[in-house]
Amino acid sequence: MSKKKLNILFVASEVFPYAKTGGLADVAGVLPKALKELGHNIIVVMPRYYQIDKSKLTHVDGALGVPMGPMGELWAGVFTTKLPQSEVSVYFIDYEHFYGRRSLYDENGTPYEDNDNRFIFLSKASLQLCKMLDFKPDIIHANDWHTASLPLLSKTRFAEDFSNAGTVLTIHNLEHQGNFYKGGMDVMEIGWHHFNPMEFESHDRLNLLKGGIAHADAVTTVSKRYAQEIQTSEFGFGMEHHIRAHASKLFGILNGVDYDEWSPAVDKHIAEHFDIGNMNGKLECKRALQKHFGLELRDDVPLIGFVGRFATQKGIGLIAGIISGLMQQDLQIVMLGTGEKWAEHYFGEISGRHSDKFALHVGYSDALAHQIEAGCDMFLMPSLFEPCGLNQIYSLRYGTLPIVRATGGLDDTIENFDEAHNSGNGFKFYAPTHDALYHTVMWAVGVYKNNQKAFLSMQKRAMKNHFSWRDAALAYEDVYKYALAKHTK
Ligand code: ADP
Ligand code: GLC
Repeated sequence: MSKKKLNILFVASEVFPYAKTGGLADVAGVLPKALKELGHNIIVVMPRYYQIDKSKLTHVDGALGVPMGPMGELWAGVFTTKLPQSEVSVYFIDYEHFYGRRSLYDENGTPYEDNDNRFIFLSKASLQLCKMLDFKPDIIHANDWHTASLPLLSKTRFAEDFSNAGTVLTIHNLEHQGNFYKGGMDVMEIGWHHFNPMEFESHDRLNLLKGGIAHADAVTTVSKRYAQEIQTSEFGFGMEHHIRAHASKLFGILNGVDYDEWSPAVDKHIAEHFDIGNMNGKLECKRALQKHFGLELRDDVPLIGFVGRFATQKGIGLIAGIISGLMQQDLQIVMLGTGEKWAEHYFGEISGRHSDKFALHVGYSDALAHQIEAGCDMFLMPSLFEPCGLNQIYSLRYGTLPIVRATGGLDDTIENFDEAHNSGNGFKFYAPTHDALYHTVMWAVGVYKNNQKAFLSMQKRAMKNHFSWRDAALAYEDVYKYALAKHTK
């Protein structure tokens, strides 16, 4: 097929560097740039959350009328800027009533009650914005449940302007499906005949992701392994049958890494730069991290890091179960995260009891995340499921060897250490059990202490791994073509 330059509308609920709670933001902040570099014309749309400073953005003239069913037409403002170091325009939908809040999705662990309206609004506003800008998308790319109404909206309520667009929905995490009171059907204005178990209905409630999967021309998820896993009852969160029914249009595309952000040679947050050719800086980063956390200052002790949401998904239950045992060993652990309160308290207590070898930072800190990647010897990511996972891939570049459970993207990116063949880039375990995790951590610690040569050569192998956004963008390009071809049949 000759190379056609596509107009792409890319909509996400969070985009780095403007708003981020997890990996979706990292992806939404970089993939559009990689697509632009392939020659496509792409715009990104997200909410103008309260925390995003309007004064740094450009106001777009005109007001955006967004039809919201029984709520009538709501009028939003629009701001814009370019994604850093790029020509990709990002548009921010400004609507105080929905986005003028302290957080993105929830407060104190309680989701905002009107999250259905907030994100149906975003989806509809993005289509109205295209009309206002006279931007005619060939492809509408939605992400997760927040924008999963887009595929059907473009074919029903907004068909007049968008019926020719191919639609792609990327699932970043199947656990979160956008499950709401069914009244949201009226707000979408797509017709109640779409409220049935094959489309938007799940146990008499509205399930936005389910409807999105049914109606998108193509569905992607963020690793090949996860694309397989979500078709099983173990990983399907009740959606496995629905996904299997649509498996012919499901593709797994592994996320890439923004090496301008995540690379020890250029990282602006770390104590000293380093690279394969000169690893001295890594030791300085380790010392700085130990100092920052008030740990015993020792070069020879293995330092293990964790960065992530304190959520069941991330295996924090497994870590909690072995932490006392690990505290009997000669090692150090630092954890950065926030989320489930029991975990914040439990790990807090451990850090009080073992302050020379265990440290915790409850909260969100971009700089500290980078410092942990750089300063640790190993990175702990024992997720129960992991659609892609970015932190283990970032760790590789910093020579911080991942200890992971073999699931989803973790399994696709980490190859187990094989001493006999001097191969692998990390340590992997299979069963989600305390024993398996404990023994794998102790295995890694053993290699660190007793086989420094193998450890160093594995670090160097890991640092050479390259997870390119360009490759991912090329794969998305194929999916776009598939969606378009299917759509225009
Ligand atoms: P998920 O999207 O499931 O949370 P990923 O591994 O894909 O997991 O991405 C998580 C991203 O969020 C990474 O960039 C990670 O560094 C960042 N992150 C998670 N928790 C924190 C935190 N407490 N402070 C800083 N960054 C964090
Ligand atoms: C989700 C997943 C994570 C993935 C990220 C970006 O939050 O939990 O595994 O890396 O999305 O796709």
